Amino acid sequence: MTDLSHPIFARLYPRLDAQCAKSGGDAHRAELLAGASGRVLEVGAGYGANFAHYPPEVTEVVAVEPEPRLRAKAGHAAARAPVPVTVRPGVAEDLDLDDASFDVAVASLVLCSVRDPVRALAEIRRVLKPGGELRYYEHVRGSTPGKVRFQRCADVVWPFLAAGCHVTRPTGEWIARSGFAVQDERRFEFPESGGANPASPHVLGIAIRD
Ligand SMILES: C[S@@+](CC[C@H](N)C(=O)[O-])C[C@H]1O[C@@H](n2cnc3c(N)ncnc32)[C@H](O)[C@@H]1O
Repeated sequence: MTDLSHPIFARLYPRLDAQCAKSGGDAHRAELLAGASGRVLEVGAGYGANFAHYPPEVTEVVAVEPEPRLRAKAGHAAARAPVPVTVRPGVAEDLDLDDASFDVAVASLVLCSVRDPVRALAEIRRVLKPGGELRYYEHVRGSTPGKVRFQRCADVVWPFLAAGCHVTRPTGEWIARSGFAVQDERRFEFPESGGANPASPHVLGIAIRD
């Protein structure tokens, strides 16, 4: 099953993300993709918010998105992208793609939502060439007991409001334990006053497939 239907989220997310873009989200996406080159896999591409940020050294982007309405929007974004982008159905946990066939994989704000993030990371690792890069931009579990308690409370309802998104996942740690060497990672609150936002802090980094 490659389709996950979330009609309300698909309608609201592009609008909410457009607000985030103005307050720093666009800069984070540009930072995420700066220096990427070669053949790229993007998992859970949503409505294609990253596409405009791919640098010219990227030869091809294969974007996988399971939500059909978001996938249709991503198709429109692909037509305007500065590099060739194809959008296809699929889930990160079960990629219909060849082993060691990508130079770069991109996961932005998606490992919070996949049903099985450890399996998704194993699949991403499988399709990356040895030495390939996982570029990630994810909100993660907080650093203080108080923040984690707040996130655990939020996580009772958050997945129902945000299409399966969870706010307590230690995604950066899972990446480091999934056959990747974290080369560069920065952790930050977003928005800067992220204390009140359960979906903060964020990590933005590059990990190398061993
Ligand atoms: C918060 S949105 C982020 C979209 C996009 N990556 C971005 O940066 O704007 C989460 C995305 O993950 C997708 N998603 C959910 N479960 C998934 C899965 N198992 N595999 C791949 N994508 C998934 C959703 O359909 C949605 O597009």
